[in-house]
Amino acid sequence: MKCLRQFALAALFVSPALLAAAPSIDDRSAFIADLLGRMTLEEKVGQLRLISIGGDMPRERIVEEMAAGRIGATFNSVVRPDNRPMQEAALRSRLGIPVFFAYDIIHGHRTTFPIGLGLASSWDIEAIENSARIAALEASADGLDMTFAPTVDISRDPRWGRTSEGFGEDPYLVSRIAAAMVRGFQGKDPSDPQRIMASVKHFALYGAVEGGRDYNVVDMSPLRMYQDYLPPYRAAIDAGAGGVMVALNAVNGVPASANKWLLDDLLRRQWGFKGVVLSDHGAITELLRHGVAADGREAARLAISAGVGMSMADTLYDQELPALVRSGAVAQSVLDEAVTHVLNTKYDLGLFHDPFRRIGRAEDDPADVNAESRLHRADARAMARDSLVLLENRGDTLPLRKNATVALIGPLADSQVDMLGSWSAVGVAEQAVTLRQGMEAALAGQGKLLHAVGANVTDDARVIDYLNQLNWDRPEVVPDKRTPQAMLDEAVALAAQADVIVAAVGEARGMSHESSSRTRLDLPDSQQALLRALKATGKPLVLVLMNGRPLALGWEKDNADAILETWYSGIEGGHAIADVLFGEHNPSGKLPISFPRSVGQIPTYYNHLRLGRPYTPGTPGNYTSQYFEEATGPLYPFGYGLSYSDFQLSAPKLSAERMHPDQRIRVSVTLKNAGPRPGATVVQLYLHDEAASVIRPEKELKAFRRVKLEAGEARELSFEIDESMLRFFDASLQHVSEPGAFRVQLGLDSQAVQEARFELLPRP
Ligand code: NOJ
Repeated sequence: MKCLRQFALAALFVSPALLAAAPSIDDRSAFIADLLGRMTLEEKVGQLRLISIGGDMPRERIVEEMAAGRIGATFNSVVRPDNRPMQEAALRSRLGIPVFFAYDIIHGHRTTFPIGLGLASSWDIEAIENSARIAALEASADGLDMTFAPTVDISRDPRWGRTSEGFGEDPYLVSRIAAAMVRGFQGKDPSDPQRIMASVKHFALYGAVEGGRDYNVVDMSPLRMYQDYLPPYRAAIDAGAGGVMVALNAVNGVPASANKWLLDDLLRRQWGFKGVVLSDHGAITELLRHGVAADGREAARLAISAGVGMSMADTLYDQELPALVRSGAVAQSVLDEAVTHVLNTKYDLGLFHDPFRRIGRAEDDPADVNAESRLHRADARAMARDSLVLLENRGDTLPLRKNATVALIGPLADSQVDMLGSWSAVGVAEQAVTLRQGMEAALAGQGKLLHAVGANVTDDARVIDYLNQLNWDRPEVVPDKRTPQAMLDEAVALAAQADVIVAAVGEARGMSHESSSRTRLDLPDSQQALLRALKATGKPLVLVLMNGRPLALGWEKDNADAILETWYSGIEGGHAIADVLFGEHNPSGKLPISFPRSVGQIPTYYNHLRLGRPYTPGTPGNYTSQYFEEATGPLYPFGYGLSYSDFQLSAPKLSAERMHPDQRIRVSVTLKNAGPRPGATVVQLYLHDEAASVIRPEKELKAFRRVKLEAGEARELSFEIDESMLRFFDASLQHVSEPGAFRVQLGLDSQAVQEARFELLPRP
């Protein structure tokens, strides 16, 4: 029935110009080649324009340009009644080539899921895939075709605000998530009207900007690139991502948007990427500011020659490409290849078969795009619960009793917009459940909730100004007019009446966003003062952290009775956090990124290369690698997270101590839930290569399993190690394994591991 309807729609809407002359629409390459052959130079250049809606060009002008066949796609137009007239205009153009509609759907569309770091903290690959599937379902129902996601930039520097958007520091975990997100968005086939196409970003190495300062340069050895930073992009592409967005940074002296090695040699030739390459916002013009192009003509030539296909919110392609091609400075074949990728993308999205396959018919448009019935709250709550990471729980402070009097204090306790986190697509703040609302619902009819703000997120006027100018549609950080002391006094007086204090502190969402790089990683002063005053009451102090990056939490670790890292947990965050605080749900999240002790200690990633003089505790001044003013190692390591259960893992047993390259070794462990309640945890498998031709990391995550166990239940788990898991990039960038000894380490975090040794034998 559905198919018939689509067929009818297609017959109605596909431009006769397209259908008449073309060879069979079922033969993609013949169909696209024929179309390309009929296009003028201007029409071809038009296909490379990706226009921002709400940018400089008024909507009427956009429609005119579309009707003239001079626009290939848009982004930021997100409802069917807005997209429909644009598609109709495109179909009126001489060749009737449809446009596609893209948007930044990063962690949910109408239903806001936890931010990337939160999703990653679940280590639940199926649930993460499901969150992307739901985002695709909602976005496609709004007439969208493509998302600029997943963001898979490895981040080892939490000063970088976009750390929040990605999935952490580890190449293996981020790669697994990258592939899952692509599967979730695209399903089996991006032409599915309930799916959208994924455009993985930011290619490449964006997370390694120097000093964590956004848009800064990246200079990196090829070994590190291949070993650590490139795998997640590759995983997304291998999973079928239809698009790649180019990073704004330079890669070893050449901006990514002009980097032929990156976009052509590596992406197209070595990796065989067949999809569309998009520039980031204005990046072609930025080639002038990078100083690799003397003028716009040069910038456009460099970008298209390197392999940038569509230009996002940039005018240089339309201004310069026609003359560049006419003069032969850019070969016709280079332009044709770029246009072919765009047309293929539209084909793969199913738009040539039915340009309205996601926009649908006007009579089916939702009366209210924000209707509750369009949300997927249950999935959001389940995902959010599993994204929470319990960092401390002294004396079993948590879970709280439901008949307790709880003082909920802090600037983030009742802030709807901050529940969403940045890049929250069309998520509506008013639909987000705050912690206050979640706790009130959980306590209903039993205990008592007292609430005070206690402190502003920050009292620094400069920071407030910055945060309010980040292009949100309204000021988001509106300080309380009272004096800091008056707010503190109120909070302390309230705390004195309570059994326990829950302090909701952290960062306003704008602090963990594009361009929001920080020099400090501690809580803003206003919130530190609040916590110290609350601590002085002597009441048990539970911190609920909301933030988009690892924070330096030395004082908090020493002084809080419990700490729950909640990131920005999305539309159902308040319920999810309350579920964990009151023990309805046993926390199981694990950190996807290390928490440093201080800014000076960055980077603190766990999988660093081995040293000739690693830090060895003992006599001071023993000339080993350390910062002498503070303890060595992270405050909380990668993979760490507590549970209300007591999970015990046995020492690993190997099925053999030697393996030929074509054999496997089975590693077995027993996991026991020795606690009184059911729960889940993540068993993590790391490998350590004892000696190789290049320096290998201390350890590398190679497998993991999220396991749910009933109270008292024990289960034997086994992992297989094969030769491919022992491979690495050698000095000539070959992906090889080398015979020799390895250690396999199993644990519930990256530090507390038990190990066994085995040997990889040479090939006969
Ligand atoms: C700039 C950001 O870097 C990129 O991630 C995003 O997709 C585009 N703007 C479009 O919004």
